[in-house]
Amino acid sequence: MRFDVVTLFPEFVRQCAGFGVIGRAVERGLLQVEAWNPRDYAEGGYRRVDDSVCGGGPGMVMLIEPLRKALAAAQQAASDRAPVIYLSPQGQRLTQEKVKELAGLPRVILLCGRYEGIDERLIEHEVDEELSIGDYVLSGGDLAAAVVIDAIGRLQEGALGDTQSAAQDSFSGGLLDCPHYTRPVSHAFGEVPAVLLSGDHAAIDRWRRMQSLGRTWLRRPDLLENLTLGQDDQRLLEEFKREHKGRTHEQDH
Ligand code: ADE
Repeated sequence: MRFDVVTLFPEFVRQCAGFGVIGRAVERGLLQVEAWNPRDYAEGGYRRVDDSVCGGGPGMVMLIEPLRKALAAAQQAASDRAPVIYLSPQGQRLTQEKVKELAGLPRVILLCGRYEGIDERLIEHEVDEELSIGDYVLSGGDLAAAVVIDAIGRLQEGALGDTQSAAQDSFSGGLLDCPHYTRPVSHAFGEVPAVLLSGDHAAIDRWRRMQSLGRTWLRRPDLLENLTLGQDDQRLLEEFKREHKGRTHEQDH
């Protein structure tokens, strides 16, 4: 999959794509990340990319032309037309479902704004979709673009060592992930749950599913509202709730 990022900080984006899972995926040719700087397409000695807000007010707005030209250069760099995604707090909220949908595309262009934002006319003419990574305001879309590349990039075939690990992610089945443990089995901070050491894979799967359901119920009940649980899941969740109640009562005394 190919990402073309239109950003005033191309080095930041390139650096972000150089580490960990994403860095390895780039090295192995599973991902390509290219950055395009609108300043390279700006006019005049100062290479201005922004101007004051029409109607008055604080801050600066990014100019249409440098962005339009950078987007055109990015589009022309590969044969198939890529959808243009603008990262902004006004966008649709990014979810794992959306990440999976985008991961199926051959390429996307990510457009990053700075300052107060970008001229609305560029958005109307050039942007296919606006995405927000959460209900908070960043100083620019560059960090959000890096988040999007990471979330999508790790889902590319072969990017994660174990093909199972993406399937078990939080949110991938609409639930949060279960807790994980490693050695030592016994530590001053507590014991690894005995079932995980039992070698009984059916019991381990059952326990993990119960923990996923229970954690989602405790921490993100809103996610459960969007799911219809089968009978087995309902029983597991009831079991979790009983055990949880027992545990909180123990702690009370
Ligand atoms: N740019 C500034 N804030 C943002 C956010 N929350 N998501 C995506 N892009 C942004």
